[in-house]
Amino acid sequence: MLDILVLAAGKGTRMRSDLPKVLHPVGGKALVQHVVDTARQVGSERIFIIIGHGAEKVEEKMAAPDVRFILQARQLGTGHAVQQALPQLRDDATVLILYGDVPLTRAETLQKLIAHVNDQQMGLLTVNLPDPTGYGRILRDAGGAVTAIVEHKDATDEQRQVKEINTGIMAVKAKHLQQWLPQLTNNNAQGEYYLTDIIALARQNGVAIQVEQPNAIEEVEGINNRQQQAALERFYQKQKANELMVAGATLLDPARFDCRGTITVGRDVVIDINCVFEGDVVLGDGVTIEPNCVIINSRIGNNTHIKANSHIEDAAIAGDCDVGPFARLRPGTQLAQGAKIGNFVEIKKAVIGEGSKVNHLSYIGDTTIGKKANIGAGTITCNYDGVNKFKTEIGDNAFIGSNSALVAPVKVGANATIGAGSIITKDVADEELAIARGKQRNIQGWERPKKKS
Ligand code: UD1
Ligand code: CA
Repeated sequence: MLDILVLAAGKGTRMRSDLPKVLHPVGGKALVQHVVDTARQVGSERIFIIIGHGAEKVEEKMAAPDVRFILQARQLGTGHAVQQALPQLRDDATVLILYGDVPLTRAETLQKLIAHVNDQQMGLLTVNLPDPTGYGRILRDAGGAVTAIVEHKDATDEQRQVKEINTGIMAVKAKHLQQWLPQLTNNNAQGEYYLTDIIALARQNGVAIQVEQPNAIEEVEGINNRQQQAALERFYQKQKANELMVAGATLLDPARFDCRGTITVGRDVVIDINCVFEGDVVLGDGVTIEPNCVIINSRIGNNTHIKANSHIEDAAIAGDCDVGPFARLRPGTQLAQGAKIGNFVEIKKAVIGEGSKVNHLSYIGDTTIGKKANIGAGTITCNYDGVNKFKTEIGDNAFIGSNSALVAPVKVGANATIGAGSIITKDVADEELAIARGKQRNIQGWERPKKKS
């Protein structure tokens, strides 16, 4: 039985931000969301977030059936923060204490920590730092057993030589917290109730402190300023890039790759530099993404080629398509097999049929296009009258001449042809040719106006 506490009441002054610190992102996801997601992975059906500064914003963002909020109105220290949760903890639960600003701890590390917890033992996550300045130091007896944590500000010069520091993350029986937390005092350099003082109490009460260490320091690093945020962002992106390469994707430069969500790749995917992926993105076998693309919540089918500088959001793209360069596929775009979307084309809420082409400078919105249609350069679907949106339908094998305006609602039939420069306001039947433009007049002997001398 596991209760998880996430401390997130602190102010985060050094972010110099109106947004509560724990809502700042790493990998496109709020710090505290990372922590809650990991807590779920560890397997707790009860997650408590201790909130204080920016409480309403954190509560609004993090509301979920398995999350409860506990207000710590004044931040009197980490021990005081955990005290606020005492009435809610189940007596025989194991309690895992996490921090809302430490986003990248792995579930496996926490699982190892929890495994130590019983009536005679608790778990403490520590790490050795070349420069431990500022952190709580782990004190051990001659036999190597942990006896206490001393905060940097309270430590003697000798204690400050210790490189092993407290990450803050620990796991302990609820009944032990119930026993020890009421004994804390704030009689220390910072005038705070230190959670870390329970380590000495554990020792005095014959509860052994079992130490675990993370695989990487970044797992236990907290974020207090924008530099630390940027550093963890890079670490996170490097991990994401590695996962994709292990899955068989080629990243032309893993240092210029950003995933703010999840990507699933097939075999032999190639991703060039400076692409940003958000939400859920699925790339099929043999997909190529050229430089500077943004791809959000989209699926891209086998062997489709996305050329440079394309922006794709909430789109479903089948296999063997060509998109870009400089294409914008907005929400609701569906490209069927082998469709081609060229430069400076915007598509919104439209189905482009198999093998159809919209190659240059067009806007296609609220439209269905059949198979093998050709949409000429500069074609615009006029789908909006300022209030309402209307649909355009274009049949199989239709040919829309360049610079045409299709004023919706309107239908263009299969095999129909639209003369270039037409403004189409009425339906065009199958096989018909429609031309709707001013007739050309040629005037002979026309004299241009001349400047008066
Ligand atoms: C704490 C530890 C220190 C450890 C360090 C690791 C204590 C006394 N010290 O120090 O041993 O090396 O973390 O980073 O625990 N918080 C609350 N309510 C409070 C105070 C803090 O929710 O009243 C939250 C903060 O939002 C933050 C976390 O607890 O997420 C840590 O608080 P912070 O003040 O940063 O502790 P440190 O002094 O860094
Ligand atoms: Ca801190």
